[in-house]
Amino acid sequence: MSGDAIQSVLQEDRQFPPPEAFSADAHISSEEQYQEMWQRAKDDPDGFWGELARENLDWFEPFEQVSEGDMPDTKWFTGGKLNVTHNCLDRHLENWRKNKAAIIWEGEPGDTRVLRYQDLHREVCRFANVLKQLGIEAGDRVTLYMPMVPELAIAMLACARIGAVHSIIFGGFSADAVAERNNDAQAKLVVTADAGWRRGKELPLKEAVDKSLEKSPSVEKVVVVRRTGYDVEMVPDRDYWWHELMEGASIECEATPLDSEHPLFILYTSGSTGKPKGVLHTTAGYLLGTTMTSRWVFDLKDDDTYWCTADIGWITGHSYIVYGPLANGATTVMYEGAPNWPDEGRFWQIVQKYGVSIFYTAPTAIRAFIKWGDDWPGQADLSSLRLLGTVGEPINPEAWMWYHRVIGGEKCPIVDTWWQTETGGIMLSPLPGVTATKPGSCTKPLPGVVPDIVTKEGESLGDNQGGLLVMRQPWPSMLRTLYGDHDRFLETYFSEVPGSYFAGDGARRDEHGFYWIMGRVDDVLNVAGHRLSTMEIESALVSHAQVAEAAVVGFPHDLKGEGICCFVTTTVNDNSEELKAELIAHVREQIGAIATPDQIRFAAAVPKTRSGKIMRRLLRDIAAGRENIGDTTTLEDYTVLAKLREEDE
Ligand code: WT7
Repeated sequence: MSGDAIQSVLQEDRQFPPPEAFSADAHISSEEQYQEMWQRAKDDPDGFWGELARENLDWFEPFEQVSEGDMPDTKWFTGGKLNVTHNCLDRHLENWRKNKAAIIWEGEPGDTRVLRYQDLHREVCRFANVLKQLGIEAGDRVTLYMPMVPELAIAMLACARIGAVHSIIFGGFSADAVAERNNDAQAKLVVTADAGWRRGKELPLKEAVDKSLEKSPSVEKVVVVRRTGYDVEMVPDRDYWWHELMEGASIECEATPLDSEHPLFILYTSGSTGKPKGVLHTTAGYLLGTTMTSRWVFDLKDDDTYWCTADIGWITGHSYIVYGPLANGATTVMYEGAPNWPDEGRFWQIVQKYGVSIFYTAPTAIRAFIKWGDDWPGQADLSSLRLLGTVGEPINPEAWMWYHRVIGGEKCPIVDTWWQTETGGIMLSPLPGVTATKPGSCTKPLPGVVPDIVTKEGESLGDNQGGLLVMRQPWPSMLRTLYGDHDRFLETYFSEVPGSYFAGDGARRDEHGFYWIMGRVDDVLNVAGHRLSTMEIESALVSHAQVAEAAVVGFPHDLKGEGICCFVTTTVNDNSEELKAELIAHVREQIGAIATPDQIRFAAAVPKTRSGKIMRRLLRDIAAGRENIGDTTTLEDYTVLAKLREEDE
């Protein structure tokens, strides 16, 4: 059995308890309270979730049953009728929040807009009427391919108001990717913009839509937001300007009462093989999950200014820029552009300008901040911050410590939130008023989440044994299917470990019940019969003072099965053999001889997808000297690849 375990070599013993004042005020404020909630949710999930759903959501018609059926086909809150936008907007108009800022938006060029709850409600109603006028009905799919402008949030909420299903495609995807997703969803309408701003340049979106429509015949109409003034071609009877349609639209639009299991959105995510997977989320369970996790994990209060730096094109933006914060009546900040435009201090200027109190970003961004230097955050007043968060990949302890010290001023708890497009909301995370955090650990399951770490045979592993991360019980915000392909849904998530949801990640649980994510299991190397997580080797490399970023992949190795190849970006301009030797020694020292790198390759940057994931397949191909680079539509920077190739020759 132990041969199945993934060997874990990361040791991290520092602990950071929450400041007392933070705990005293927090929504969940003690270990006992957390334990009690977690135990109740495990033993009596229907009682637990039913109570929360009744207390925290507004229903047009009450549900009859809390959950129905076993995983994977569990239905939640059946018989109930509600509308997500009634919960995110209308109910806040009945009290003082109607004049509270819902969205504080800043464009890359520095233009700003503030939408109070009643402004947002009005715009959503108007666009919902526009959608109806264009022939969109409940259940129809609408693609949103837009920059980070308020109209994106308005469009998604307008869809939800009438029961149309939005499918947001991140603005960095190519025309082909848009066509593929339009076809898979059989979308009827696309909402886009002339262009968006990115590092001072215009990113043409409408042009890409035009190209995509040559290959996606289901799309009948296109609505275009004028954002930058970029010249676009408008096809008569197909393309319409947003502002022209909105001019004539009524501000009255009742929220349609929808079944709890009515589909809310599709969001495509890449699998290890095949075409992108259309993860489908539904109405009530998703709304409850994001509402509660926003409150528990971000400790949202009415006087907070909350900023999640993700793009709405990813699940993080769906759940924690739009739905979760708005359901809580919070003020959510939305920024259009790049973090280093016009300079590397942009994010910290935004924090200072709006008095951001809760800041949620990704480890890849944090490593960029570290590389840019402490002076940039040093120039801004960050004293408004009270809580920091991360998501997307394991955060290496060095980056965690920097975040804690330089951004958090050693006073802000850090919530390292583990979850996925498929889970809808946060699953494993510290509770900021409760958990004594350990750098690099996403700590413990939230109430209602029952994880386990198992062998390939589904047997539970003991403390500190690495294995597969699974969920033993269903939760309200879990995906319901992969759009149009229920078999693939069953196969991908429920066949590996029968009866449990398989997340695709490796993890271990330490002797204190803390979870440590070891990365996707297909990133796991088998070196001389020992399974090693690439992330742990990366973490070791990054802990070296001269390493800014590292990506580790395996390559076929005659003696060891798999060898370890490390792509390293340095903070200094030193690409010497001496530094290579030093890094090899450093990894040996940090982890042990088993993890000795076979190759160190210096690179100008590590190739990443737009969401910040290291393009491991590409690196594996380079490490193995293969020519095929596969599908690179999500490649952030083609030049990086070219440079790596050059160094090969
Ligand atoms: C995968 C999900 C959830 C929104 C962003 C990514 C990795 C995510 C963490 C974390 C370690 C993490 C996992 C997961 N991941 N958060 N805090 N610590 N790993 O969404 O594109 O669906 O990716 O991201 O590998 O399976 P996604």
